Parts: sequence; C-alpha cells; structure tokens
Amino acid sequence: MAGPGPVTGDVLIERIGQLEALSRPLEPDASERLALREPVVAYAERFLEALADLPAYHDTEDLGAGINKSRIGEGPGPIEPVLDLLREHVDGPGLNPASAGHLAYIPGGGIYTSALGDYLADVTNRYAGVFFGGPGAVRLENHLLAWVREVVGYPKTALGNHTSCGSLANMIALATARDAWGLLGKDYDRAVLYLTSQTHHCITKSLRFLGLGQCVVRQVALDHRYRLRPDDLAQQIREDRSNGLRPWVVVASAGSTDVGAVDPLDAIADVAAEEDLWYHVDGAYGGFFALTSEGASRLKGMERSDSLVVDPHKTLFLPYGSGVLLVR
Ligand SMILES: Cc1ncc(COP(=O)(O)O)c(C=O)c1O
Repeated sequence: MAGPGPVTGDVLIERIGQLEALSRPLEPDASERLALREPVVAYAERFLEALADLPAYHDTEDLGAGINKSRIGEGPGPIEPVLDLLREHVDGPGLNPASAGHLAYIPGGGIYTSALGDYLADVTNRYAGVFFGGPGAVRLENHLLAWVREVVGYPKTALGNHTSCGSLANMIALATARDAWGLLGKDYDRAVLYLTSQTHHCITKSLRFLGLGQCVVRQVALDHRYRLRPDDLAQQIREDRSNGLRPWVVVASAGSTDVGAVDPLDAIADVAAEEDLWYHVDGAYGGFFALTSEGASRLKGMERSDSLVVDPHKTLFLPYGSGVLLVR
C-alpha cells in the first residue's frame, strides 16, 4: 500500500501559514498592545488611587469562589471581562497587604517601580539560569546578591541565589548543610537539628521535602521574650552526643514570624562553633533590619552563620515572590 507522499515545499508553506495565523493573537502588534495595555494600566491606577481607603481585609460572600465559574478557553477574548474577574474575585476578597490599614503580620506592600521591573523582565524574558544564555541577567542577580551580602556582613567569598520565597531558600540551606556535613541516608536518624517553637514551619517542612524526615528535631527552650536559650542548646547537644547522636544544624530566627523575636545570634554562633554545628539563620522576616543601625546591633552575630535567608518580599516590600539564600 502506498504511504502518504513526500510533503512538498508548497504544502509545508501552506501549513506554516495556517499555524502562523492560529498563533497570531499571541503576538499583538503595537496598536493591539496599546488596546490591551490601556485598560490594564487604568485598572492598576484605580487600585493604587483607592488604596488609602481600601480595607485591610475584605470579606465577600463567596471568598473568590466565583473565579471557578470563569471559562478557560482556547480562543482570545476582550480584556475588560478578565479585569472584572480579577477585581471581583481575586483583588477583592481577603487580605490586602498593600492597604494603608494593614498593620499586622509581616508587611507585603508591593513597590510600584518593582512592578514595572517585573513587567520589563516578563516582556524581555531573559533567562538567568545559565551564564551563556543571559550573561547580563546572571550578573544582575549576582550583583544583587553581593549587595545583600554586604548588608548582612557576609564575606566576599559567600555565594547564594535568588529564590521565589523564604521557604525555598531555607530548604536550599538545609540541603547545603546536609551536603557540607556529608550526611548520607544511613546517618539521617542520628542527625539532630535544633530549633524552637518559634521557628517558621517551613524548616520542618523542608526536612520532609528533602527526604530528611527521619532526622531528630529538638526544641530548644525559650527565654521570657521567646528567644532561643543558648544554655539549653548547649546542654541538649551534649546529651545527644553522649547518647550517640550526631548534632548537625542549629536554626536561629532573626525575627520570628509570630512575635518578631530575634534569637541571641552571637551566643548561638559561639555554641555552634564550639560544638561544630552548621549554623543557619532564618532572617526571612528580620534580616533586612540590618539596614538600620538599631537593627544591625540587634542582629549582631548573624554574619557568623554558615547560611542565611532574607526575604525581599517582606522587609523590602518588594512584590511576591522574592527570597535570597546566602552561604558562607
Ligand atoms: C521567619 C520566616 N521564615 C520563613 C518564612 C517563609 O517565607 P516565604 O513565605 O517567603 O516562603 C516566613 C514567612 O512568613 C517567616 O516569617
């Protein structure tokens, strides 16, 4: 039986033409871009202008469930109904971290110039994952990391990377600590990690993600201001060692989520050095207070850690999601 004949140049060109016509809506021309951009910018302006009077929390009847009724189709549609959906079901209900009345919890204001930066990054879409692909983009990331390194007092030799959030940055820190200590699967159930009841839950979650769920997790006692007690840390390490366990990591908070407690970072660094532990500081919330003189003095000792996390989308008010991990 004869198979399909060879595809001729004409047929190929016709097919490419059809595909080109099909995908054309993905590449709007200048006037189409303007028609899309204007209502989007107007939406943003209305949001920003109303911000001073918007409540910090908006309770709606269905809490955004109406978004599920929107149709996800293949064809193009006008922008206005999409913006209506956004206003009613996404930007309406719940917490508005950019509201002037939002005083509680950790700030998440959003900075307009950063939003414009995000816009340009998405339009140009440079790849920052490999130097060859985006040398300037990679240098930009490293340049920002070098600035963070200086803010927190880390040495020039420190390295790191930019992540989408503090949780991911903390997870990479624990993976680094595991590899730096050469922990293998057979060691996990003897390896001990020390934290407190105030440690952010992403730390224990990271252990599970990393397959380190068998590790022993100790809660160190707190003082009257919810800070880790270095004397209790030292004692628990000694007891664990004498019981044949392998003290591995201590996690200190540079600003705890619930109460903003800053653990005694210098004293913990002493214990970690003496006991040969990996010292990780979670400064997702508080690390950037090192930019102020009072913050810098309260955070003294943070610079002695082996790894450190800060979250630009918290204390620097940048748009979500932006985290940074540094490793000494
Ligand atoms: C101290 C601390 N660590 C880690 C995190 C997790 O950060 P993210 O929400 O960016 O993953 C938070 C978030 O509130 C935090 O307060």
